[in-house]
Amino acid sequence: MSGYFFTFEGIDKSGKTTQAELLADRLHKAGREVVFTHEPGGTPLGQAIRALVVEGKTQGEICDEAEVLLFTADRCQHVWEVIRPALEAGKVVISDRYFDSTLAYQGYGRRLDLGWLVSLQEKATGGLHPDRTFLVDVDLETSKARGGLQGSDRLETGPEALYKRIRNGYFALAEKEPDRFICLDGRESMEALSKRIFEVVGPMI
Ligand code: TMP
Repeated sequence: MSGYFFTFEGIDKSGKTTQAELLADRLHKAGREVVFTHEPGGTPLGQAIRALVVEGKTQGEICDEAEVLLFTADRCQHVWEVIRPALEAGKVVISDRYFDSTLAYQGYGRRLDLGWLVSLQEKATGGLHPDRTFLVDVDLETSKARGGLQGSDRLETGPEALYKRIRNGYFALAEKEPDRFICLDGRESMEALSKRIFEVVGPMI
């Protein structure tokens, strides 16, 4: 495929969405064709799934395994409908969250079997891995101070221990793939972070 695929990851209020948007904007201004997208909810089917798993629009509770299958169904459709066609057309795709979210939140966070999750992701994405993944990290205190970890949705209301496991899970994923992951300190200024990200992306494309 001739395009480039960049993903942004991190816990709530890390600033990843802002950085993903800034990168998209910068590349667009530089004349690149950019597709800026997100998970869950990057397709019409995904929006319906997001209403179920994030906004809690279900009757009763969703079990952890059903939840991970819904996130993965969202991703499968997203790759098929949006990401792969854009990459095949030579575009730059920037996604706010991708399969590392499932590994961090459902694998490390909710302690679902990582081997099962990895093979599920490979199947659902047809083995499509990002060229680079920007992990925008903030500690739990910073996230909370920015209004995170206390939302009313199903996933963002949870015990601190869960968020510690998710954050540490991201670190573990980054350690396993140091060439793909770029770890950033989300407490740095918006401008400094954006500059660092462009220093990585600029020479690649
Ligand atoms: P967002 O706030 O970045 O839009 O993400 C929505 C929530 O969904 C967030 O709490 C993280 C969670 N999530 C998972 O738990 N697993 C996943 O695979 C994805 C994509 C998101």
